[in-house]
Amino acid sequence: MKREIRQAFFIFCTVITLLTIYYYWMGGAINVEEIKRETRVNAQEFHDFHADRYPEWTLETMDSNENVAIALVYIVKDRKNEADYRIAINSARCYAEVHQYGFIYVDYSANKTLQELCPQSDFFFTRHCLMNEVLQTAPYEFFVFLDADIGVINPRRRVQDFLPAESSVNVMFYNRFYNDEIMAGSYIVRKSKQAENFLQLWVDYYEKTKLFPFSGTDNGAIQSVVLEFFAPELSPYREVCEKTWRTGRGFAELFRYEACAQYLISLIPKKEFAQRGFVLYQKGEGWSRDGWVSGTWWCERDLFFHGWKKAKLGGEWQLPFTSESLFDDKCSANEFDRWIYSTGFKVPCLQLDLRLHPYFLEKRSAYYKALKELFDEKLFPVKAYEKYGMP
Ligand SMILES: *[C@@H]1O[C@H](CO)[C@@H](O)[C@H](O)[C@H]1NC(C)=O
Repeated sequence: MKREIRQAFFIFCTVITLLTIYYYWMGGAINVEEIKRETRVNAQEFHDFHADRYPEWTLETMDSNENVAIALVYIVKDRKNEADYRIAINSARCYAEVHQYGFIYVDYSANKTLQELCPQSDFFFTRHCLMNEVLQTAPYEFFVFLDADIGVINPRRRVQDFLPAESSVNVMFYNRFYNDEIMAGSYIVRKSKQAENFLQLWVDYYEKTKLFPFSGTDNGAIQSVVLEFFAPELSPYREVCEKTWRTGRGFAELFRYEACAQYLISLIPKKEFAQRGFVLYQKGEGWSRDGWVSGTWWCERDLFFHGWKKAKLGGEWQLPFTSESLFDDKCSANEFDRWIYSTGFKVPCLQLDLRLHPYFLEKRSAYYKALKELFDEKLFPVKAYEKYGMP
């Protein structure tokens, strides 16, 4: 009897164990599928920026090896902060040499002619005036404007990967990751009358906005410049958004105005914008992004990182390289060996996306919150909504 009980107990245990294994095996299989699916959804959502109501169209870019004259452009007021930007600028100088791009470094303080041509007393605007001068005089087809704290994280990515195959496109920007701003600190322009006129309009916004209590200078203005230049039919709505901008006294109002302007920008189909000459890359899709958002993690997709100021090293960003002086000496063509990385910063793009995704969602809800606040204060362009709806 005792033996039979033991046998029964043994069979019982075996059955339970088998059932458990079966359950977890099935469950596990389902979970893996679930995770895979979720991952795809996350990656998809990550790329669908909140205001992007036309995700079906993406810019056709030129061939990576296309032979086109490209210059990287850095514009500084003087050389006082050179040490702060050494890593960033030298990495880009080296990168330009590796790919045989032009490298233009403008020191405003050292050139009287330029000071007369571009006398704006806000250097943020002066830079774009200087850029217009460079655009008209230097022998390149495409110019990549870069803030002094933008450096190269991944030299294998080429600028061509982001340039339009379409000949209609002359002006390209990207949306910042960290808020609803179009990034004013980096853009790509093609040598063209349209790009000149665009930059001139931006510079003219200095006079328009200098008396605003909190204009956000060129980074506030860029939203309105894009709308005025590339979407003039939206002007009545733009003026509604600008009320918040004109009277705002801090970042809260500035960001609300920017969200409002992004809403209007989202109304124009991307394809239509490209035909009119303009491309706006969505969060995380452009040639550069705020590197601190991912704690300096990067993946194959990345090229430039913004935020490499020496003063913030070790705080806001980590040095992804083994030394600060890797780029100080002469570089040569096809030399990628100089990028010697510390371990732990390069990750698969999926891993990066999964880290960025919660941040992205947070920004998306901040965007709708800003729109709601505008609506509650009767400062939202309701007529635009009635015509186009929400994205
Ligand atoms: C100053 O800038 C002007 C206009 O771009 C240029 O022609 C000139 O060569 C520059 N001068 C110096 C000393 O770099």
